[in-house]
Amino acid sequence: MGLDLNIAMQLATKAGLESRQILLDYFGKLEKVEKKHMAGLVTEADKASEKHIIECLKPLKVDVVGEEGQFGDESQSLFTEGQTRWLVDPLDGTTNYVHGFPIFCISIALEVDGEVQVALVDVPVLRKTYTAIKGQGTFCNGQPIQVSSRSQLSDSLASTGFFAENKEALSKQLQIFTSLVSQCRGVRRPGAAAFDLCMVAEGVFDLFWEENLKPWDTAAGLLLVQEAGGQVTTYDGKRYTPEKKNILATNSKIHNETLKQFI
Ligand code: IPD
Ligand code: CA
Ligand code: CA
Repeated sequence: MGLDLNIAMQLATKAGLESRQILLDYFGKLEKVEKKHMAGLVTEADKASEKHIIECLKPLKVDVVGEEGQFGDESQSLFTEGQTRWLVDPLDGTTNYVHGFPIFCISIALEVDGEVQVALVDVPVLRKTYTAIKGQGTFCNGQPIQVSSRSQLSDSLASTGFFAENKEALSKQLQIFTSLVSQCRGVRRPGAAAFDLCMVAEGVFDLFWEENLKPWDTAAGLLLVQEAGGQVTTYDGKRYTPEKKNILATNSKIHNETLKQFI
């Protein structure tokens, strides 16, 4: 028997809203900030949020893969496609969070046989919850949302992210940045990939690109963008899954024009 996606969404919603409160409670009061090897920062808030989300999701009896859990950077299984699992980023935007920049979020996705079918991103400071179930559209606080209708790159607001510790990826990112910054209306770097994808789904950003993200960064955002009418591929225009190493998400109208910048 298949998984009940409505129950999955109920569990994710409870997890997201309760972890919103956990993150707001710790915000500005952190005592323990640690540096992970080639993976940015982790705080007591990331850990508390993840612990709570895992408890909330347990009733579905599906593996939960969280950023702060058992899977290290080297784990091959993290990037194996075709799995059924929850993918959880308990705090996306930890650097923002540590510095008091109020853009951070919680990302929860259910992958079924390698396809994301349930997605939730909660943005605590904005008090916004973005949700999607496959085939049913994308919602923000229960209201339907759609990608933008802008059809020219020159009218577009873009966003991206960089991970400075990976020098090879950084240099490729900077090349693409140089090309896109002169062609778009503007480029932003909010610092939380799941949030960037919500902004594409809501029609605020027209495109988002980034390299070397992890499955928990993009799994929920992928479905949010697709269900809002957007298009998500790799830099070479192939089907994107959260296990892929680079992502281009757009409102679909400017997708082909944008892809030309990645050659
Ligand atoms: C990070 C954010 C950031 C992106 C980094 C991610 P984290 O996630 O999504 O925008 O540029 O590559 O690692 O570490 O804050 O969960
Ligand atoms: Ca993240
Ligand atoms: Ca994180």
